[in-house]
Amino acid sequence: MTKSELIQHLKETVKPEEGIIPAYIFSHPKVYELEMEKIFLKSWLFLAHKSEIPNKGDFVTRQMGEHSVIVTHGSDGDIHVLLNVCTHRGMKLCRMDHGNEKSFVCPYHGFNFKNTGDLAGVPFQKEVYGDTLDKSKMGLKEIRHDEYAGLIFATFNEEAVPLDEYLGDIKWYLDLAFNRAEMEVQGPPMKWVVNASWKLGSDNTISDSYHTLVSHGSIAKLGLVPSGDYSKYGYQIYTGNGHGLNLGMPNPHFAFPEELTEEYKERLSPEQWGVLEKLKNMIVCVSPHMMILISSMDFKGKQVSNTSFRLWQPKGPDKIEITQWQIVEKNATKEWKELSNQTNSLTFGASGIFEQDDSENWTDITQNSKGAYHLQENTFFNYTQGMHKKPVDDFVGPGIAYENKFNEANARAFFRNWLDQVTAE
Ligand code: FES
Ligand code: FE
Repeated sequence: MTKSELIQHLKETVKPEEGIIPAYIFSHPKVYELEMEKIFLKSWLFLAHKSEIPNKGDFVTRQMGEHSVIVTHGSDGDIHVLLNVCTHRGMKLCRMDHGNEKSFVCPYHGFNFKNTGDLAGVPFQKEVYGDTLDKSKMGLKEIRHDEYAGLIFATFNEEAVPLDEYLGDIKWYLDLAFNRAEMEVQGPPMKWVVNASWKLGSDNTISDSYHTLVSHGSIAKLGLVPSGDYSKYGYQIYTGNGHGLNLGMPNPHFAFPEELTEEYKERLSPEQWGVLEKLKNMIVCVSPHMMILISSMDFKGKQVSNTSFRLWQPKGPDKIEITQWQIVEKNATKEWKELSNQTNSLTFGASGIFEQDDSENWTDITQNSKGAYHLQENTFFNYTQGMHKKPVDDFVGPGIAYENKFNEANARAFFRNWLDQVTAE
C-alpha cells in the first residue's frame, strides 16, 4: 500500500463519530510510520519536568518520536533542547540518561559541545581542517521548546501554534497536578517496556474508567479501593486537540496534606480549589502520549493521594517504553512524601498492581490487531459507549463534560483528532 492509498484507506475506515475504530491501526507498521511523520514530527511533545534539572549543567536525555534529544540546564541559565546527534558524522553524543556536565564530548572523534549546544573544541583542528572549519555553524541543532507549570515541551514543527494555545483548556486541570503547590520529582523516572501500541495507553487514559471494575477487580477484593461501581462517579471531560480527562469525585476525605491548604487556595482559583478539595482521582491525557494521574487510597489510616505522570513512548508499532515520574509537594512533610511514594509503588509504579493488569490488556489487544486478516475483513473495535448521552452544562471547569465516567466519548474525540493529524496534507 502506498502512503496516499493508506491515507485514503484510513479516511474510509476510521469512523470515530460512529464508534468504529479498525483493528489494523493498532499494529500496522505503515500506520506507525505515518504517525511518526504526521504526529511526532508535528506536535508538541512532553520531555521533562523542570525540577529534574534544577542546577546549571543538569541534563536528561529524552525521546521525540524516534529522535534522541538532550534537555539541558545550560551554563547560561537557560533550558536547551538539543538534538543528540553529533554534527560531525552523526554519532549519538550523549548516552547517559541524566547527569551534570559543562560539555559533551563525542565518543567517536571527540568533538566537544558546550551544554548550550555550541561547538567548543575539535581535536587537532588546525592540523586537520586548517582554517576551513567554522565552529559557529556546527553547534547542536536546538529544538523549539517552551514550558507550562514546570513541564518542558518541544516540537520539531516551527509552524506549530504556541504551546499555550496547543494545551488550551487542559491547563486548568494540569494546574491541579502541577501548579497546586511547588512540586518536585522524586528521583529519575522509572522505565519499562510493554509490547503494546502507544495509542492504547492514551485511549485508556482519556476515556476508560469502565475497565476498572473488571480488570482491577482484585484490588477491590484486597480492600484497597471500594468495591462496586466506584470508578463511575465524576466527570469525563474533553478539552480539544486530543486532550481530555476523567475526574473521579466526590471524595468524602481530603486526600492531600492538610498543612498545605492555604498554599493550595492561594495558587488555585476558587473553582479549582473546589474540585481539588473533593478529588478522588484524575487521569489526564495530553495528546499525543502523555498521562497525568492523581489517585488516592486509604493507606495506613488516612486517605493518601499520589501524583504521577508518564509517557507512552513509542518504540515501534507494537512496543512502548513507559516512562513514569512520581511528583510530590516540595513543602510536604517527610512522612507524607513517604506515604505518597509508597502508594504510587503499590498501584501504578512499574510493579504496581493496577499497572500489571493494564499492561496485560494492551499487550493482548495489540497482538489481536495484527495480521492481514484484519485489513482484508476490515475488522473494527466498538467505541460506541455513551453515544446516547448529552454533556452537562453546569460543571465548573472548562471543556465538554459528561457526568459519570463510563463513556467512550473522549476516545472518539481522541481518534477524531488522531485521524485528522495522520491524514493531514
Ligand atoms: Fe562526533 Fe565525529 S561523529 S566527533
Ligand atoms: Fe487501568
